[in-house]
Amino acid sequence: MSKTKLQQQLALQGGMKAVSGIEGKGKPKIGMAEFMSLSERFGFSKEALRRIREAVSEQDLPEGGPFLAHFYSGLTESKIRAFERVARETFGVKYAVAVSSGTAALHAAFVAAGVGPGTEVVCPAIGFYATAAAVVMARGVPVFCDVDLSLGMDPAALEKAITPRTVAIAPTHVMGSVCDMSAIMKVARKHKLKVVEDCAQSTGGQFRGKYVGTIGDLGCFSISAYKIIGGGEGGLVLTNSKRLYERTCCLMEGGGLWRPSRFAPPRYRGELFVGTNYRMSELEAAVDVVQLGKLPAIVKRFHQVKQRIVAALQPFREITWQKANDPEGEIGYMLRFFPETTALGRKIETALNAEGVACGLRGEGAAPDWHMSAYMFPLILQAGGPETSCPFDCPRYLEAGGAPQYKPGDVPVAEDLFNRAISINLNQWYTARDCRNIAKAINKVLGVYCTPA
Ligand SMILES: Cc1ncc(COP(=O)(O)O)c(C=O)c1O
Repeated sequence: MSKTKLQQQLALQGGMKAVSGIEGKGKPKIGMAEFMSLSERFGFSKEALRRIREAVSEQDLPEGGPFLAHFYSGLTESKIRAFERVARETFGVKYAVAVSSGTAALHAAFVAAGVGPGTEVVCPAIGFYATAAAVVMARGVPVFCDVDLSLGMDPAALEKAITPRTVAIAPTHVMGSVCDMSAIMKVARKHKLKVVEDCAQSTGGQFRGKYVGTIGDLGCFSISAYKIIGGGEGGLVLTNSKRLYERTCCLMEGGGLWRPSRFAPPRYRGELFVGTNYRMSELEAAVDVVQLGKLPAIVKRFHQVKQRIVAALQPFREITWQKANDPEGEIGYMLRFFPETTALGRKIETALNAEGVACGLRGEGAAPDWHMSAYMFPLILQAGGPETSCPFDCPRYLEAGGAPQYKPGDVPVAEDLFNRAISINLNQWYTARDCRNIAKAINKVLGVYCTPA
């Protein structure tokens, strides 16, 4: 058989693989710069720093310190304060608070926004368990809202989910994409609701030229090892409101250390309440401040990879692509499309994997997954906290007319799209040729199983 024929034939049927290997070679996520940042924080000697540069050296911390908490920093600016400063500068906001995780960020932000007994927050059907869980930790009740073809909150469904008990809306920017923030903000302002953006999966994404996390009242980020940037476990809250900033601080650092006078009586109603300790560790901040500096370049690379692939794709009748609410602003580390049926999707998934394009499709009857509301068991079973069902059976909530119910079919679009989506993870280090090959493979497979549009 000729080489051209072999190239055209599906790899499944003995043809040549469209993607025989990936050329793009990545650099380690955490490298020398982060390590040197840690070493600087520990106050190692010049000689030790030299040895660390050569190889990972071992050195005990001097007796009696330093401690890995920003209060004990010998530096003029602790790494936590540096991380918060770089966050303010990067995202262009007045206040940034470093916290211990994305979940902590959400909990603090919901409390700051006034979520408490007797209130509801509209959460998306697709996102992650932590968003709705944090609402419950703040003693509010999550109400799930269906998504549209972008997999973000459907603004029409959002409006229908609002009740007299709603105090906030919590859009999640899913897997590198961005929600339709202009429509969401319009609904929020009309109903005088606070918007808490969950940006854990889309740190660095933008909607119409503004970073996600700076459009609503509060922006929450996870800076964990599994996210776009992060070294271990961390989180971040952004806001432009002094009051929301102070209330966020009150929850995340219960002792009121942020106040000009720690033991002074409250300066306004709602300034002081019992909080907890969600402080980020100085060790984490030392890594994260470097990682945050890399964010624009990371986002740029991901964005270019997706744009290159998308530009080379052909349209097919049986395929609907995930809608991009802002193609310029989305990060693009995932390529997603919805075949007409899961049966067709399964064929495409198998063929693409055989071509060398790793992808996945959930299909019906798959294992539970915490990215979809129907499987967020502690929530849908209305388990509030240890030994209590509050807030679901909280008298204040019931008196306010709340009667929470979570049942199959509540969010039909999300349930359908979640099962039918083919997801292809993209890598920021793909070269132009890698992108061409991946697009070629997708066109090749869809060309066999679908009809050109
Ligand atoms: C959308 C979303 N929100 C919140 C979180 C929670 O972040 P963390 O694991 O840092 O608590 C995650 C983590 O996966 C997430 O994807």
